[in-house]
Formats: sequence, structure tokens, C-alpha cells
Amino acid sequence: MRTNFFKPNRRISKKRALVEIFHLQKELQRKSKLLTTTKALYSSIFTQTNYVIFIRTLEGMILAVNQRAVDLFGYNTAEELVGLHVSRLLSPKSFESLMKEQQKWLRDRCIKQCYYEYEIFRKNGEKMITESAPSLIKKNEQIIGIMTTARDITEQRQRQENMQFYLAEITRAQEGERKYIARELHDTFLQELTTISLKIDMLIGNREFAPEKIFSQLEQLQSNINNTAKKARFFAQELRPGDLDQLGLTPILVNLTNKFHNEEKEINTRFETTGSSYRLPPEIELALFRIAQEALRNVRKHAMATEVLVKVEFAPDKVNLTIADNGRGFKVPEVAGGFASKGKLGLIGMQERARLLGGTFSIKSQPGKGTEITVGIKT
Ligand SMILES: Nc1ncnc2c1ncn2[C@@H]1O[C@H](COP(=O)(O)OP(=O)(O)OP(=O)(O)O)[C@@H](O)[C@H]1O
Ligand SMILES: [Mg+2]
Repeated sequence: MRTNFFKPNRRISKKRALVEIFHLQKELQRKSKLLTTTKALYSSIFTQTNYVIFIRTLEGMILAVNQRAVDLFGYNTAEELVGLHVSRLLSPKSFESLMKEQQKWLRDRCIKQCYYEYEIFRKNGEKMITESAPSLIKKNEQIIGIMTTARDITEQRQRQENMQFYLAEITRAQEGERKYIARELHDTFLQELTTISLKIDMLIGNREFAPEKIFSQLEQLQSNINNTAKKARFFAQELRPGDLDQLGLTPILVNLTNKFHNEEKEINTRFETTGSSYRLPPEIELALFRIAQEALRNVRKHAMATEVLVKVEFAPDKVNLTIADNGRGFKVPEVAGGFASKGKLGLIGMQERARLLGGTFSIKSQPGKGTEITVGIKT
């Protein structure tokens, strides 16, 4: 057998040995051809991919880069980049976070997170954002370097930032408009209605000046005016929860929940708090109120629920607001702006309010399984 060839074996003939040598040479040729093809394949991946690839030591010295890296980072040749320290490419903040992350990779002996975002400076000083996927290079079970593939996501981030900027502006403008309309309603419209109602009161008081029939019509007119004023006051309150500043979040949410319960009698509406409640900055209280208001509006409009719970959890450094219903639920779109593109702005507005305060926002919903909206804000 071929495997026994190297063992001293006196019984093997010279002819047989030559045949074995011939086979071995053939095998060697085949393997070396395969190696060349594989090498060429790897090399073409390295050179032709649209991704930046660079290999570096654990200390941060760049050992190899592909042409894409040279082009993207604005250098003339690969040699210019080889030997550079990664800190020359990364912004100080990104370098610091990379080093922290690397400590974790080395400790865990693996990289659990798929992508990292880093700020990189091109040779001409221009800043770009990359999405990087690092992997550990091991030799005999020892980690000896890091290979990173990366792509430029500057434009994508810019678009996202623009979108967030507009959303933030819209949210602020909306709040401003609401404030303005609520003030106008209160200071002009409602004042005028009150004046008209008072004048009618005076007329009703002077019964000797006109026939009785006119007085009953005046009374009817006054009742209509008072009803309109009541609706306008209610509308102004919706627009601007005026009591929020004085009362704080919990009582104002209790009011909101009670009002919802009075209007939607068939929905069993509950309000709960946990922890000891405390006052939050006005912009946080207003945002949480708006989120609860829109979530309840959605329950009324879409859920067909029989139960809804509004819950506020006060932890020492965090407040969580949850609005959960047992209604028909819906399929949550994969992209955040999925509904916004169809002109539905409630959910994206809630998300934006939470984001503006650096908070978290989650929607749990499935057709037939109710909906749960949770916002968490660090206080
Ligand atoms: N509690 C809920 N139960 C069932 N479906 C819901 C619920 N909340 C939201 N949805 C679904 O999600 C969609 C998006 O909600 P969103 O609040 O963004 O828009 P909208 O209520 O349709 O319109 P808008 O809020 O802009 O007036 C709704 O059209 C509805 O299909
Ligand atoms: Mg809505």
C-alpha cells in the first residue's frame, strides 16, 4: 500500500517502488495545482471585492490592505497604508471604542457582535463612517491578528440623520402649533363664546322686553353655545394638557385613562403605577403623555380591544410607560418608517419622541394577539 511505502519494507520490488513514486508525484502536482487555484481565488476575493479588507496586528499595525481600502481611504498605494497604525485612520472616539471592544474579543476568544460603526479619516482629512465586520486570525489556537471587512455607510447615515432631523423638526413644530391653536381656542374663541353666553343671560333676565317664545329660543341658543364651549375646551385640553405642568405625569395619565374609559365604555381600561412616582423634566412628561395619547387613540381606532392597560413604572433612574391592549394586533413592519411612507404617522411619531429623549421604544404586536407599546426613558 502507498502508506507503507516510507516504512522500510524489504519485500517491495524496485518496479513497484517506481510506480509508487510516480503516483506520489501525480498527487503532489494535483495538490499544488489546487493550492494555486485556491490562492488565486482568495487573492481575487481580496482584490476585487467591493468591501474594504485590511489585516492588522493586535497592536494595531496594518499588515495588508486591498485596493478598495486604498481607494476609499484616499491613498495612492497599498504600501502607504501598510505599516500605519489604525489610530492614524480612526477618529479618537472610534479608536478608543475599538480598543475597548478588542479587549472583549480577546477575553471571549471570539467576536459576538456582527457589525461595528467607526469614524474614519481619509488621507485628505475627510470624515467617513464605516460599518466594519472584524474577525480574529488564529494560528495554533493563538490569536495573532485581526482581519476587518468594511463598507462606507456615510451617505446612508447622512440620509438617516436628515430624516431624523426632519422628524425632530416636525415633532417640535407640531407641538408649537398645538400650543398656538390651544391658546387661540382658549383666549379668543372660548372668551367670545363666554361673552355671547353672558349677553344672552342678560337678555333672558329682562323678560318684559320680548315675547316668551323668544326667551325659550334664547335659552336653547345658550345651551347650544355652552355645549360648543364645552367641546372646544375639551379639544383645547387634548391639544395642550395644560394641567401637566401643575399636576405631573401620573395624575394627567389618570385623567387621560378616565376620559378614555368614559368615552369607550365597552373597553375595560386600567391604570397602574409601580415604584414611587417623581416629577420628570417637562419635555419628558409631555412626550410620555403624547405617546400614551396616541397609543390610546390607536386602540380606539384600530384595536377592537376589550381591555387596555396604561402602566407607568418608576425606577430610581428610569421610567417605563406601557400601553397594552388585547385587541386584534397587527404585523409590525420590519423598517421603522414602514407605516410613515403610507402617511400613517402615529407610531413613527411616538418612536421619534422617545428617540429625541434618548429613550427606547418597542412595539410588540401580532395579528390576533394584542399590542404592547413600551417606552423607556432614563431619568
Ligand atoms: N393598538 C393597535 N391595534 C391594532 N392595530 C394597530 C394598533 N396601533 C397601530 N395599529 C396599526 O398600525 C398602523 C399604524 O399606526 P399609526 O398610529 O402609525 O397610524 P394611523 O393610526 O393609521 O394614522 P395616524 O396615527 O397617522 O392618524 C395602523 O394603521 C394600524 O393598522
Ligand atoms: Mg395612529
